[in-house]
Amino acid sequence: TKPEPLKIMISGAPASGKGTQCELITQKYGLAHVSAGDLLRAEIAAGSENGRRAKEFMEKGKLVPDEIVVTMVKERLLQSDSQENGWLLDGYPRSLSQATALKELGFEPDLFILLEVPEDTLVERVVGRRLDPVTGKIYHLKYSPPETEEIAARLTQRFDDTEEKVKLRLRTHHQNVEAVLSMYTDITIKIHGSVCKEEVFAQIDAVLAELLEQRQATSGSL
Ligand code: AP5
Repeated sequence: TKPEPLKIMISGAPASGKGTQCELITQKYGLAHVSAGDLLRAEIAAGSENGRRAKEFMEKGKLVPDEIVVTMVKERLLQSDSQENGWLLDGYPRSLSQATALKELGFEPDLFILLEVPEDTLVERVVGRRLDPVTGKIYHLKYSPPETEEIAARLTQRFDDTEEKVKLRLRTHHQNVEAVLSMYTDITIKIHGSVCKEEVFAQIDAVLAELLEQRQATSGSL
């Protein structure tokens, strides 16, 4: 029999490297990447009423209300790619109420990854971050510069990526992180996130490979 697909959550402060690691994890493990922040930015880009409301909170570095976020994430997790290939939930849950809602809906993760990065590094990462609107890839002017002049010319910056806004986002993070962690203590792994992205991935990869191996052994497919 085929082993159950992996269900993973990744968490950490703003700019701790969640999106960057999700690119690397999905490349290797083929999970559906479900990013609460990306889903919200897509709502804003689509010009929907939810997008307009969400932006007011995002501009202040606050959590978008549950009535918008909970349904949005639930619907994405119920899509066939998440159900068949497993999911990698990025930036969700961010509060006790979101964690509880998810549990009540029957979404239980196998692993909760927490990226740990010191605060001064986070600010430097935010200010230098750039995005490629064509591929969705995440860059950093110093740590992950664009490969070509053509890409460099089209890079954009997020509206909440200023030093002032990241301080507000950090405050929101600190207010909520302990409560969320308390729900997942038995499946949490803490990752040293201030080394280069390849070294961060190597730590995560080792844990995921072991988890998959255990799964295959118990499902009898080895
Ligand atoms: P969201 O989009 O999730 O933003 P965030 O949590 O602040 O995280 P970021 O996307 O800023 O950073 P990241 O950890 O993905 O880092 P990245 O890999 O890009 O949320 C935005 C807003 O939406 C929130 O403020 C809130 O308002 C709302 N929202 C989202 N989820 C919500 C929820 N569940 N409930 C309610 N509201 C919600 O890396 C950052 C930079 O560093 C990049 O330039 C990258 O190239 C570089 N970098 C990455 N790794 C390394 C490394 N190892 N070494 C050097 N540089 C690196």
